[in-house]
Formats: sequence, C-alpha cells, structure tokens
Amino acid sequence: MTDLFNDIEKALLTSSVEETIEMTQKAFELSCSTSVFVEPSSRIVQPVERVCFPEKPICVPPRDLPRRRLGTEAGKRSFIHAIAHIEFNAIKLALDIAYRFKGLPEQFYKDWLYVANDECKHFKLLCDHLTQFDCAYGDIPSHDGLWSMAVKTENDLLARLSLVPRYLEARGLDVTPAMLVKLYAQKDTASAEILEIILEDEVTHVEYGTKWLDYVCQRDDIQREKVFFDNIEHYLKGQILGPFNKPLRRRAGFTETELLELERLDKRQTSK
Ligand SMILES: [Fe+2]
Ligand SMILES: [Fe+2]
Repeated sequence: MTDLFNDIEKALLTSSVEETIEMTQKAFELSCSTSVFVEPSSRIVQPVERVCFPEKPICVPPRDLPRRRLGTEAGKRSFIHAIAHIEFNAIKLALDIAYRFKGLPEQFYKDWLYVANDECKHFKLLCDHLTQFDCAYGDIPSHDGLWSMAVKTENDLLARLSLVPRYLEARGLDVTPAMLVKLYAQKDTASAEILEIILEDEVTHVEYGTKWLDYVCQRDDIQREKVFFDNIEHYLKGQILGPFNKPLRRRAGFTETELLELERLDKRQTSK
C-alpha cells in the first residue's frame, strides 16, 4: 500500500493541475482494487506548507474578485470559474485528510479518496463547460479561503472533520439550490445540470464528515455535537450564517439538536 500513499503525496505536492488529477484518480482506483489494506506505520507525512497549487489562478482578496452576476456572459464565466476553483481546492482538501491523519480504518482512506475522485469529476465537468466561454481554469483571479481551513486544522482531525466537510462543504448544500433556481430561470440547463450532479454528490461528502466525526468521537469517548460546536466557536468565533438547507443537512447526518443550534448561532449573528 506504500504506492497508494505515494500517489496521494504526489497529487498533493504537485503544482500541476493535470498531475493532481492523474495521481488522484490513480490512488482512487488503487484503493478500490485493494481488498487488504495495510497502512505503513512508518509512513512520513509532509507538513501542510508543502502542498502545492498551480501558479494560476492568482489569489486575490475576496473584495478584488470579478463580479459574478449570472445575467451577463462575463458574470457567468466568472461564476463557473469560481466553482471550478472551489472544486480544485476540494480535490486537495479530500486528498489531504486521507494523507495527513494516520492510523485510521481502511475505509477512512477509501472514503476520502472516493470524495477526491468525485471532486476531480466536478472539476473536469466545469472545465469542459468553461471552454464554451473561451475560458480555461486559471484565467480568472480567485481566493484561497478554502485551503486556509486545512492549514489551520493541520494537526487536529476533529477540527478538520468539523470545518471542512461539515462546515465548508455543508455550506454548498445551503447555497446551491438558489443558484439552480436562477440558472433554470435563465434557461441555462447546461450549467444547472452540472450543479445538480455536484449538489447530489456533496450530500455524500458531508455525510462522510458526519460518519468519521462520529467514529473518532465514539473511539475517544467524546460527544460529537459538543466537539462540532466547540470547533465552530474556536475557529470561526461562532460566525456561521444560514439559512440552512435542513432536508439535505439531515440526509448528511445533522441532528435536530445541531440544526437548532446552527439556527441560534445564525440569529445571534444577524441580530448583531
Ligand atoms: Fe465537489
Ligand atoms: Fe465535496
């Protein structure tokens, strides 16, 4: 299985988009075809600073990003490019959780490689779609807000599970349906169909976040809901915004108590 972790490492440490995708898919296929999985106890994990990203798109502060109004051709192009950028970051995020945290059951690594492979699929769908706008990934400036969460949670699996799948990816479940309504209203079924695929797959990604947060909490005798909100408080200062897509969040394993507490935090924010 050394090969599998070598492939994940290569996918993380390369700044080439093509190599990231090639090595991710190779690692995923290897994880599917291997029934007996032994994680080498001696494997060395490189620090998160070593993970590389392509030179383009250049990263700028969110306020300097181009507008993404769906009504214009340029706005649509920026919108699709922004989602492609999220998906590329999501590939690295899913790879990183499989790579960085040692000593977990075989299924943990398989699940996150499955997610990484899904993110490659999403990224490629969006890149193909971008060609219709005479645009390629890298052409439009972007921001690096997503990856910063991986850096902050480098040494803490409970925080990583709380903040990447159960906060960042879960936010996609909340905001995508409204984007779909806009796209259908503009009769842009090509973009909408891609977002529909992404939305359905993302439920599983968030669900894996719940599944593995549950696993670690049970193993270490910790209460899941408490650790989740402790991390929201610690890393986000409780700054979480709704509205929340409750049906999809329920499918992804959010409990009623969690949904109520999220709404309480949102109200606290909006009343400030
Ligand atoms: Fe995705
Ligand atoms: Fe995802």
